Amino acid sequence: MKTLLQINAGLQGANSQSSQLADKLAAALLSKAPGTRHIKRDLSADPIPHLDHATFLTFCDPGAAVTPAQRAGLALSDTLTAELKDADTLVFGAPMYNLNLPSTLKAWIDHVCRAGETFRYSEAGPVGLLEGKKAYIAIAQGGQFLGTPADLQTGYLKMALGLIGIVDVEMIYAQGMALGPEVAEAGLQAAHRRIDDLSRTAAQ
Ligand SMILES: Cc1cc2nc3c(=O)[nH]c(=O)nc-3n(C[C@H](O)[C@H](O)[C@H](O)COP(=O)(O)O)c2cc1C
Repeated sequence: MKTLLQINAGLQGANSQSSQLADKLAAALLSKAPGTRHIKRDLSADPIPHLDHATFLTFCDPGAAVTPAQRAGLALSDTLTAELKDADTLVFGAPMYNLNLPSTLKAWIDHVCRAGETFRYSEAGPVGLLEGKKAYIAIAQGGQFLGTPADLQTGYLKMALGLIGIVDVEMIYAQGMALGPEVAEAGLQAAHRRIDDLSRTAAQ
């Protein structure tokens, strides 16, 4: 059975534009592949704690999980990492908050980028271990930053996914959400057209 893992990071619930776009894309991909398992995480409703030192020690040595908090931290990371490993397709809803990703999404990344689990070190640098997956990232932003130095999200997300071996990444942008109704509507329409195109060409 195929698995689609969806990660929504918008904090505005059903009103989050990035979540709405991710939901639409996930629904379209699922309709093309009946029977696909759908794992959906809402990082605002069900946040992941920041990675702390005690939990990080257990990533380096699972035998170091001696306190209840360490065991819980390692178990959460193991669950998130297993969901990621199982997934064939990833769909992210990623808003821009204060110039970058929501910290909730960074916390998820910190729990799944694990040496020996999702990447390994080599003499040439880190090597990703999760190959053959496809990722879609729907970004909503108040301004219009694509192609400018202020687009800190695209490069970071591609680097973070690339670290663990996920290099087939499609971007969807809803820009100008805070620039008035006409600009916002045009930004949303562009994102919806992109989703329609991507869903049409997605593998069955
Ligand atoms: C807490 C917060 C911080 C934001 N910071 C920025 C920002 O730095 N730059 C920007 O262009 N838009 C910013 N915005 C606007 C959002 O990017 C825009 O509303 C987008 O639609 C948010 O995605 P969402 O609807 O999925 O939550 C911010 C919005 C919120 C709620």
